Amino acid sequence: MKGLVLAGGSGKRLRPMTHTGAKQLVPVANRPVLFYVIDNLTDAGVTDIGVIISPETGEEIRSVLGDGSRWNAKLTFIQQERASGLAHAVATAKDFLGASDFVMFLGDNLIGTKIRESVARFRAHPELAASLMLKEVDNPSAFGVAEVDASGKVISLVEKPKEPKSNLALVGIYMFRSSVFEAIAEIQPSARGELEITDAIARLIEKGGTVDFSRVDSWWLDTGKKDDVLRANDTVLDDWLTAETNGDVDAESSVTGRVRIGKGAKIVRSTVRGPVVIGENARISDSFIGPFTSIGDGVRVDQSRVEHSVILRDATIEKVPSLEDSLVGKRVVVAPGRAHGGALSLMVGDDSVVHLSKT
Ligand code: DAU
Repeated sequence: MKGLVLAGGSGKRLRPMTHTGAKQLVPVANRPVLFYVIDNLTDAGVTDIGVIISPETGEEIRSVLGDGSRWNAKLTFIQQERASGLAHAVATAKDFLGASDFVMFLGDNLIGTKIRESVARFRAHPELAASLMLKEVDNPSAFGVAEVDASGKVISLVEKPKEPKSNLALVGIYMFRSSVFEAIAEIQPSARGELEITDAIARLIEKGGTVDFSRVDSWWLDTGKKDDVLRANDTVLDDWLTAETNGDVDAESSVTGRVRIGKGAKIVRSTVRGPVVIGENARISDSFIGPFTSIGDGVRVDQSRVEHSVILRDATIEKVPSLEDSLVGKRVVVAPGRAHGGALSLMVGDDSVVHLSKT
């Protein structure tokens, strides 16, 4: 069984954060979302994986993922010239997928459970045309929505319906056989101008195919917006972080709770209260780093208090009395300057500089 990870698209929903970068690379607990996707696929025994990339962000994705040897997996990068829809992405990968069954996983989706059992069930039931993962949500209109029957089969599917027939949203994880290519060839672009995978699955059902599903009972997070990134960070730090110290903590510092400190990082005269992850070569001096914070590689925090925030690689936070609920981009500088006082809640793009008041 092969894997297909969708890491194309334009990433416009996380602008300005991903104006220049891919949203699938936004770090959660200091690891790109895509890493968790590949973890989950390889855990299910899927190691021959195609990765759909766009012309805009493809190179960055390629260089961050590498050849897959970190997971003992083989990655094949497939460029989709335009973000013309999820079904279009599958059609673009036809040569790679061949006659193989495959799991498709959207590269910006993070779920709290392993897909291993669902994959095993699909493998054991060749009579299934496809298998989906569904989750009950409060706002089904924002997703693809499935209607299911009492025997556990999917009977209808609609993409982002105004009047949803159920509260079961399609989580971005799907299992298909090569029969899906025929269904894709028979659908038309939707109102938003995309070839929708939801329509292709509906077509499979119309043609007499059986589509079943598994329910996701754990959390499911889309990392599209600032608050989603913070929530994903909270959840992953809470559920998956294990304490580990590979850097230096001086005698005047105190580190409590679950804290992971990367190689070459230095904690000087500071308090760190977990769950917190501190990246490689970061330097924290005369500061407090509060719970649910991810500090990226090479970040410098000096004379500041940072809580419940995600600070990306090589940013500098200096003399900031209180920084909370913030997502700070790569190489951003937050330091005393011209602005007026008070607590801050920021969403600052890569390469930005924010000046704070001197008070
Ligand atoms: O998040 C789950 C939802 O994902 C499902 O409930 C919907 O049924 C499904 O259509 C999809 O909806 P979105 O509108 O949220 O999809 P989005 O455009 O965000 O794309 C999802 C991922 O696929 C993202 O990592 C970008 C990538 N992608 C997207 C398109 C349209 C591609 O690689 N190529 C594309 O052409």
